[in-house]
Amino acid sequence: MALLIRNGEIVTVGSRVQADIYVENETITRIGKDIEAPPNAEIIEATGKLVFPGFIDPHVHIYLPFMATFAKDTHETGSIAALIGGTTTYIEMCCPNRNDDALEGYQLWKSKADGQSACDYAFHMSVTKFVKETESQLRQIVADGTASFKIFLAYKNFFGIDDAEMYQTLELAQRLGVIVTAHCENAELVARLQQKLLAQGRTGPEWHEPSRPESVEAEGTSRFATFLENTKATGYVVHLSCERALHVALEAKSRGVKIHVESVLPHFLLDKSYAERPGVEGMKHVMSPPLRAKHNRAVLWNALAIGSIDTVGTDHCPFDTEQKLLGKNSFVNIPNGIPGIEDRVNLLYTHGVKRGRLDLDRFVDAASTRAAKLFGLFPRKGTIAVGSDADLVIYDTHYRGVVSAKSQHVNNDYNGFEGMEIEGRPSVVAVRGMVQVRDGKFVGERGRGKMLKREPSHF
Ligand code: URP
Ligand code: ZN
Ligand code: ZN
Repeated sequence: MALLIRNGEIVTVGSRVQADIYVENETITRIGKDIEAPPNAEIIEATGKLVFPGFIDPHVHIYLPFMATFAKDTHETGSIAALIGGTTTYIEMCCPNRNDDALEGYQLWKSKADGQSACDYAFHMSVTKFVKETESQLRQIVADGTASFKIFLAYKNFFGIDDAEMYQTLELAQRLGVIVTAHCENAELVARLQQKLLAQGRTGPEWHEPSRPESVEAEGTSRFATFLENTKATGYVVHLSCERALHVALEAKSRGVKIHVESVLPHFLLDKSYAERPGVEGMKHVMSPPLRAKHNRAVLWNALAIGSIDTVGTDHCPFDTEQKLLGKNSFVNIPNGIPGIEDRVNLLYTHGVKRGRLDLDRFVDAASTRAAKLFGLFPRKGTIAVGSDADLVIYDTHYRGVVSAKSQHVNNDYNGFEGMEIEGRPSVVAVRGMVQVRDGKFVGERGRGKMLKREPSHF
C-alpha cells in the first residue's frame, strides 16, 4: 500500500526541508510539496514534527552466550524495543567463541534472527581465531552479504585473538575490502590486574574499572591503529570510552590511518560512580570498557559534536539482576553489559540536541547516516531520498517522559538509565513503508525484518 507523510520537516545530513514524502512498494518514490495521494494511500500528518531517516544502531548483542550465561533479548523483543525507540536497523555482533566453528556460528546467529526481527538487521562477523579454514570461511560469509568483521583484543581465551591473528584478519580484510571493528583493551593486562585486585580482597563491582584502566584501553587502541597502518586495512574502534584512547585514535587518523570511532550511549551519560554503587546496583553498571571518570563525558560529547567520534551505538547487552548477581563474590564474574537499544535515540536527542551539545545534522549523522556509509548500507538506509528504503521516524519534539524499566520493552528487569528525562520520542516509525510503531506502541508485523546483504566497501 502507498504511504504519504505530509508536511513534516525532513532532516537529513546537510538538509532541512518542509515537504511531503510519498512511498510505494517499500521505497520512497517522491519528495515534494503538495503531493497528491491515491484514495487508498495511508496518510500521516506530520506538521510540526521532524522526520528523520530510520536510525541505525551499529553495535548490539541480541543472541550472546557470554560469561556463563546468555543475554536476555530475542530478536523479537530486541527489535520491538529498537523500533519503539526509533531504531529501524541494527547490526548485531555475531560472536562464536574460540572453541566454535566460525561458519557454524554464523549459521546459528542467522537462524536466531531469521523470521523473528520486526526491524531490518545485519551482522558484524567476529573473528575469534585464525586457523587454516578461516580465510575460506570468511570469504563465504562476506559473499553471503556480511561485509564487516569484528575482533576482540580483550576477553582472553574466549573471544580474544592474539597479534598474529589480528594481523591475518586485517590483511585479509584489506584484500576483501571489508571494514574491521575492534574491541580495544589489552587482554593480558586486564587478566593480570584482575588477579592482583582479587588477591588484595577487592571483589566488588567498583574494582571493575581499576582492573581495566584507561591506559589498558589506550594501549589496545594504539596497537589496533598500528596494525591498521601496517596492513592498510580500514578499522572502526567500538565503544571507545575515554580521552586517552580517543587521543590515540585521532593521532593515528591524523597520520593517515583509516580508523573510525564509535562511542556508546552509557559512556556519554553515565560514569564510574554508577558502578561504585553498593551491591547489585553497581553490578548493573558493569560493562567493558568500563564506565569512566566523569570528565571523559564532556570530552566524548565534544568529539562527537565535531565528528571526531563518528557514530553512537549502544552495545546493547541485557543481563538481568539475577544474572548480574553471578558476580556477587567477584567482579570478574559479573556479566558485562548495559542495555540501551530502546533509549539511544531519545537520550541522544535530549542530552545532545536539546542540551546544546549536538546540532541536528550531527545527531542524524551519528545515529544513522554515518553508520550506513561505513557499513555499506547507504543510500538504501541512513537517508531520506528517492530510491531509499522508506525507513522513517516522525519525531515528536514536544513529548516529555522519563526512562524506566517499568515501561520498557527490552527483556530486562532494570534500566541503566532509570529516571533520566527524555524530551522527544518517535510518534510514528515506519520500516520499508509499513508503520511499525505509533506513540510508544508496537502496532506492526512481527518477524517482518530482513537481513541486509552488504557489499564490501573497498575503502
Ligand atoms: O560489556 C560489554 N561491552 N558487553 C558486551 C560484549 C562487548 O564487549 O561488546
Ligand atoms: Zn566489546
Ligand atoms: Zn559489544
